[in-house]
Amino acid sequence: MKRSGLRPGNEVHLHCARLDERGAGVAETGGLEVHVAGALPGEQVAAVLEHVSPHRRGDAIGARAWARLATVIAPSPERVATVCPAYGPCGGCPMQHLHYPAQVRWKGELVRAAFAGQPALAATPIAGCVPSPLTLGYRNQGKYVYGVTRTGRPVLGGYAARSHAVVDLAGCRVVEPAVDEVAGLVRQQLEEDAVAPFDEGTGHGVLRYIVIRANAREQVLVTLVAARRDWEAAPRLAGALRAADRRVVGVVLNVNGAPGNVLYGPEETVLAGRGTLLDQIGDVEVQLASRSFFQVNRSVAALAYQDLRAAAAELGPIDRAVDAYAGAGAIAFGLASLAGEVVAIEENAAAATAAAAAGTQPGRVRFVTGDVAEHLATVGSAELVVLNPPRGGCEPAVLAGVAQLRPRLVAYLSCRPSSLTRDLEALRRLGLVPVAVRPYDMLPHTAHVETLALLAPATRR
Ligand SMILES: C[S@@+](CC[C@H](N)C(=O)[O-])C[C@H]1O[C@@H](n2cnc3c(N)ncnc32)[C@H](O)[C@@H]1O
Repeated sequence: MKRSGLRPGNEVHLHCARLDERGAGVAETGGLEVHVAGALPGEQVAAVLEHVSPHRRGDAIGARAWARLATVIAPSPERVATVCPAYGPCGGCPMQHLHYPAQVRWKGELVRAAFAGQPALAATPIAGCVPSPLTLGYRNQGKYVYGVTRTGRPVLGGYAARSHAVVDLAGCRVVEPAVDEVAGLVRQQLEEDAVAPFDEGTGHGVLRYIVIRANAREQVLVTLVAARRDWEAAPRLAGALRAADRRVVGVVLNVNGAPGNVLYGPEETVLAGRGTLLDQIGDVEVQLASRSFFQVNRSVAALAYQDLRAAAAELGPIDRAVDAYAGAGAIAFGLASLAGEVVAIEENAAAATAAAAAGTQPGRVRFVTGDVAEHLATVGSAELVVLNPPRGGCEPAVLAGVAQLRPRLVAYLSCRPSSLTRDLEALRRLGLVPVAVRPYDMLPHTAHVETLALLAPATRR
């Protein structure tokens, strides 16, 4: 390989050819594959090298480098103006500069590329990516770091990339308006009460994070994550928040004294109002605890769950279905009218307890609190298995457990194409093959894509 001679600090002029899986533009120069966040395919840009990897990748392509976008010399026709005040330093929506239809097209390509990477799955039919009905104001939850800016102003923000500097997220346009408005109110109240942000280095201060969750009726649950339980002013502050805005139906104190960036601790008390929130996906009502996982884009989740339910309905009457990684049970409750029993397995006890207590649901859903691999082994048999794991996908023991249930249909809803295709290849070896795949854009302006894969036994196709 020819050495490029390029070093961090060098400015390079690049012609961007494609996007990588994180949405950064990729260009080649002097034997280097350069990744430039913010650059789009077809654009000519000037960029400053920040990191050059010494490692070669195979024979054909040389080393990789990462560069900071300096100037867009010739913009793509698909470049659009960004709308969030914190776009860039926030890092939450790295694709906001790409015209939305192009984002959706690219997400479909990401899923197709992941399937192409598994030769035995390469012929799987993949439908076009379903766009989000809302591209702004779609997120029903905001997670904020409580910090101070350089000028000493307290803010609800997020960490800037590779740093602990807090970027003010006021005016974020991707969260639902109620979330941003209540965030502004919380910020004001914290400033008035002179609440100090927790400093992990010195141990001073008390408040670490704030999570604001809104439901479809614009009711809001606020969770204050503090480093210590002896925050005497917390109940008064919670009462003031409720009094200031009728949308705030509950304020919860979560205590997280552990070092690192894990959001929640194990201990929780309700400071004011309620500790749970009722929400809805399609016509399915769910009860959410502060720490329950819930899809942040209600309308896209409703489309995916509707497709899942339609596929399940084609099976005819079902004796038993399993909803593994059930969260608040939105999928399980949606399947209840199709099956004699739906076993919903969820390890987060708070989420499972709140979900099981949702009194308005059909009674056929049985919540089991614990690990999926462990509890699948006790189910016996199931005609339908739904898998909706976190990003890393399923443990091999879970996939083996699914095959042992001898399902007629497996519906795997995944938020990471690479772990999905890895697990589908393992399931193929266990006799379950993908028959239909559809991506959904659950998170506009991010590089994330959700995918629903339907699998059937190989012999019954
Ligand atoms: C992507 S969420 C899916 C939630 C739900 N299906 C929905 O649509 O809202 C994944 C869920 O799996 C749970 N979980 C993660 N690992 C688990 C495990 N090993 N056993 C049981 N549940 C697990 C998490 O607590 C989380 O609620």
